[in-house]
Amino acid sequence: MSKNTFYVTTPIYYVNAKPHLGTLYSTLLADVLARWNRMKGADVFFLTGTDEHGQKIANQAAMAEMAPQQFVDQMIPPFHAAWERYHISYDHFIRTTDLSHKQTVSRWIEQLISKGDIYKARYEGWYCVPCETFIPLEKLGEEKASAACPSCQREVSRITEENYFFKLSAYQDRLLAFYDQHPDFIFPKERGNEIFSFVRSGLKDLSISRMSVDWGIPFPGDSEHTVYVWGDALMNYVSALGYLQTGPQAGDRFAKFWPADVQVMAKDIVKFHAVYFPAFLMAMGVQPARRLLVHGYLLVDNDKMSKSKGNVFDPVVLADSFGVDQIRFYLTRYMTTTQDGNVSVPDIMQRIESDLANALGNLLQRTASLALKQGAAQVVLPKQWSDASEKLRAQCGDMLAQFEKQMDGLQLSQAYASVWNFIAQVNAYFHEQEPWKLAKTDMQKFTQVIAASAQSLYAIAHVIAPVMPFKSRQLLAALGHTLVADKSVVWANQWNVACTLFVPKDPLFIRPEMPEWYQKPVDKAEESNKPTTEKDVAVVQSGEKATGGEYITIDTLAQVVLVAGTIKECEPVAKSKKILRMSVDLGAYGMRQILAGVAEFFTPEQLISKRATFVANLPPRPMLGLISEGMMLVAKDGNKMSLVSVDPDIADGTRLG
Ligand code: MSP
Repeated sequence: MSKNTFYVTTPIYYVNAKPHLGTLYSTLLADVLARWNRMKGADVFFLTGTDEHGQKIANQAAMAEMAPQQFVDQMIPPFHAAWERYHISYDHFIRTTDLSHKQTVSRWIEQLISKGDIYKARYEGWYCVPCETFIPLEKLGEEKASAACPSCQREVSRITEENYFFKLSAYQDRLLAFYDQHPDFIFPKERGNEIFSFVRSGLKDLSISRMSVDWGIPFPGDSEHTVYVWGDALMNYVSALGYLQTGPQAGDRFAKFWPADVQVMAKDIVKFHAVYFPAFLMAMGVQPARRLLVHGYLLVDNDKMSKSKGNVFDPVVLADSFGVDQIRFYLTRYMTTTQDGNVSVPDIMQRIESDLANALGNLLQRTASLALKQGAAQVVLPKQWSDASEKLRAQCGDMLAQFEKQMDGLQLSQAYASVWNFIAQVNAYFHEQEPWKLAKTDMQKFTQVIAASAQSLYAIAHVIAPVMPFKSRQLLAALGHTLVADKSVVWANQWNVACTLFVPKDPLFIRPEMPEWYQKPVDKAEESNKPTTEKDVAVVQSGEKATGGEYITIDTLAQVVLVAGTIKECEPVAKSKKILRMSVDLGAYGMRQILAGVAEFFTPEQLISKRATFVANLPPRPMLGLISEGMMLVAKDGNKMSLVSVDPDIADGTRLG
């Protein structure tokens, strides 16, 4: 029997600052998965929370002249408020200062001691307070008075303490066997490879207590120590389910939901979740989680967005300026789930305008207003669909199948790329059928186009529900439906749904306006292009440097998003001697289907694996019954053609300019 529960977790966040867009991102991906699995009928448990012990928090509380408990308590409301604002549908919010969590951690340590997995020894080495991580001497050397953390590059402190150690080294072989038996444990696989080689290179025992840190869970049997904050924190995933709790039904939830189906996190903390936590559980005879979804970092100007760098976006400010569902969509669709991606206000605005307002909002608006104008609000399903409609119906079926596969495979950005590819197909169908002309000539065909479009919108409304729960409902309301139906109903009733169209009073999406708070970043190229000498000024003013026409401004150029990409697949297109269809990896800009008129110059084999430059922000364009989602730049010289290549060490998705 297949398991019909789904347990998804986020990292628990340090409470040294309020949540930012990066912390929202992990929480949002978990929320999208939770909503999707609820739609599939699973009994879902979605956990998030806060990590409140340790030296970092203690230091911060001291700076704020507060007792640690008082300090952490006043940091919680911003988390609740941000998650509420973004409709994060968590079932439980755990705090590591919760009494039940502290009890679980103490009992866990007691049991490790009685099983012989813990011993006392001297730790001499480095400690990074921001990462709350021990760094062994061999990594940074003994002599130096100070050194930088290999992970966050901040200064580490040298410590010498009597500590309790967990026998991590004893679990090396069991961990390797576990990875072997569970090849899907870490997604994406590349992240797994880093972990496997780390474990294979030899595990050292892990210091599991701190002597000099008071703000933590007292170490059982030794009041001079507290439990190491990462040991404390990782156990939240099981303590939240009542693990090691006593009393009637205390263990029920744990029995029902563990092992977790998906644990979401960024790459900075994979080692803790893929090595230490599984070993902690193995020591207790408990199975590790099923899958880890390791997503990329949100970047600003190619730099990781982080509290310490002060380059964070406040999710609440973005929601005020652009709308909650819009930001949820932008992050899920445009940050390639497993890769780093830049966030910028112009990009957010452009995506909302092209993908939401134009591609989806206009489709609804045009379908509903045309139908109402002809008194055809009640959608009539035809006895037989035309060939063109039948094709669209098949595309809808393909999209639903692909969406499901990609969502279950944790490729969330890809799943929504499939949905928007289908939206482009519906728009192409609508455009080709010209229902506004049919309204005057052939009412039967007209009603069929409206029906096909409404059926497509009905399917779209459901697949967008996990990412845009409110817009999904608004879209369904415009089709005469009130509830997001169960996934199985939608998938089973494809193109067979009674709909009554109506034009919403407010459009589904509005074109965003540049928020007042937005400050355009200083354009380095523009700065360096400024004329500096009198001669330069004269040359620029006379237009002497202009060749082949008028000058454009640097702003005009900046509107074109040119990015490096790799051609992954390439094939001819039926009925065309000129066009090749390519699947192109544009890194943070996603996998794109791009059609290019290059078949007379290259064979598909010559193009596969080639690097080239692509325009990433053209609207999707129907061509030969397919959708082209970008343009490849080429240089054509008579009967010769060249791609515009980039060096191999420049990552896909890097912007040119
Ligand atoms: N408290 C630990 C986690 C303990 S889990 C048992 C911690 N907290 S944190 O507040 O620093 O949050 C780290 C997590 O926040 C990352 O792993 C990631 O999930 C998320 N992110 C923080 N900044 C981010 C980006 N710039 N981009 C994407 N995710 C980001 O580590």
